[in-house]
Amino acid sequence: FNVPPAVNEPVLNYGPRSVERAALKAALEAARSQQVDIPMYIGADEVRTGNLKELRPPHDHKHLLGTFHFGDKSHVNAAIDAALAAKADWENLPWEQRAAIFLKAADLVAGPYRATINAATMLGQSKNAYQAEIDAACEFVDFLRFNVQYMTEIYQQQPPVSGKGIWNRVEQRPLEGFVFALTPFNFTAIAGNLPASAAMMGNVVVWKPADTQVYAANVIMQIFKEAGVPPGVINLIYADGPEVGEVVFNHPDFAGIHFTGSTGVFQNIWQTIGTNIHKYKTYPRIVGETGGKDFVLAHPSANADVVAVALLRGAFEYQGQKCSAASRAYIPASLWPAVKEHMVREMATFKMGPTEDFENFINAVISEVSFDKLAKYIDDAKADDSVELIAGGNYDKSQGWFIEPTVIKVDDPFYVTMCTELFGPVLSVYVYEDDQFEQIMDTIDKTSIYALTGSIISQDRYAIAQATQRLRNAAGNFYVNDKPTGAVVGQQPFGGARGSGTNDKAGSMINLLRWVSPRTIKETF
Ligand code: NAD
Ligand code: ALA
Repeated sequence: FNVPPAVNEPVLNYGPRSVERAALKAALEAARSQQVDIPMYIGADEVRTGNLKELRPPHDHKHLLGTFHFGDKSHVNAAIDAALAAKADWENLPWEQRAAIFLKAADLVAGPYRATINAATMLGQSKNAYQAEIDAACEFVDFLRFNVQYMTEIYQQQPPVSGKGIWNRVEQRPLEGFVFALTPFNFTAIAGNLPASAAMMGNVVVWKPADTQVYAANVIMQIFKEAGVPPGVINLIYADGPEVGEVVFNHPDFAGIHFTGSTGVFQNIWQTIGTNIHKYKTYPRIVGETGGKDFVLAHPSANADVVAVALLRGAFEYQGQKCSAASRAYIPASLWPAVKEHMVREMATFKMGPTEDFENFINAVISEVSFDKLAKYIDDAKADDSVELIAGGNYDKSQGWFIEPTVIKVDDPFYVTMCTELFGPVLSVYVYEDDQFEQIMDTIDKTSIYALTGSIISQDRYAIAQATQRLRNAAGNFYVNDKPTGAVVGQQPFGGARGSGTNDKAGSMINLLRWVSPRTIKETF
């Protein structure tokens, strides 16, 4: 079987007079003028519990976008039952049919739903139009299309040798039980991919998104349904995380978790699964992509403007709330004045405000909890004599959760903000002596408790080779002369090790292989 070859979805340009901008504006206005009532989706049912939670744009917390119905343990059990009831029909459906369903989902995202899903991401998660487009439209479509291609390759791989009178073959079975997909707030594409990739391989799924992502998750579910995902194959529930976990991780049919989120939550989940291991029919697959403390290392040979642009884009796009965001930089003393001058000049032109105004580059952080945490780190840094405030440092929550993009320079490369994931628009810079390049690489490696992304910026080939080798374990995605964000499906498989996850590379064959359990059959004639 040949599926249509996957190509990356082009990023559309939302220029002032474009038809794309007009369509997106109409979708934003429609979304703002209605108040949605979002149910859970369990089997064929839309479940409304009456226990309502509110959805508000992070940049405009006085505006009510709608409400969603919060569930409890009984709904988690109902979702698991619905998944298991759908299992036999779904896994016996020829895989080409499953491929067709998810290819149709990709076309729906790329076409008729594009403005709707971008608008939902802009309003619900406070992404500007460009950030929504590269996530909710392009990356989501890419995940679906490339995964279908990888899936066909997996199903067609067979042992190369069968002796005379023998036929050896491998059957890729779905996991025995259900898969639990637990998704973070920051990427709509990840929210769609985590349930879809497991379901594509014939599994049934219980999916719980972050509460701050429900608005876009509801659109994703409409798309899955319209594409033909049968009832019960993906069940979307909203409930308290630990409460959901208590039901899921005690269930004998729990067969795997597809997680993206913070390191602490994932470590707790892993521990719980370990404690309950004797309760399951099979060893569950544990796939988790977690936190990051991503670095940019500039070599004295680097071009200062290239360094500054990598930092500005890497640290501040989507308010620094990408797992891949540049949040610590190591700059040689000879380069620092020029890098600093470029950054400060450019940051003075940043516009901050609601996503509906297309001029705004910076929008709000996701929640009040996140705002308060970031404000505290900024205040602590301001009060610390060993830290210099280079730019930003203000915040305001009167209209939305707005944190001004902030750069601080620290004297200590082990200062708390050089090692801890803050998940916001705060960049910490350490300036090293030009002749200390090798030592600084040791420091970076030592402080890489996480190991998700990192960049070396240099015009010196030997330094690039040195950094690539010395920082081998400090990043799962390593960039040379570029920012550490913006991995593209099909081009840079994404994921990290150490505290950043199991490194099962989202949007790759490696990831899809975690959702099957192969059976080898030897037949003798
Ligand atoms: P989070 O860990 O708070 O939440 C992730 C999901 O887990 C949510 O659905 C949440 O409701 C649920 N959850 C929270 N506590 C739980 C518990 N005790 N038991 C069961 N479920 C629970 O993460 P977030 O704030 O939504 O997302 C940001 C984090 O995700 C950052 O750390 C970021 O680095 C990480 N992330 C990593 C990647 C990657 O590819 N490595 C990609 C995106 C985001
Ligand atoms: N694809 C996203 C990035 O690399 C996670 O920023």
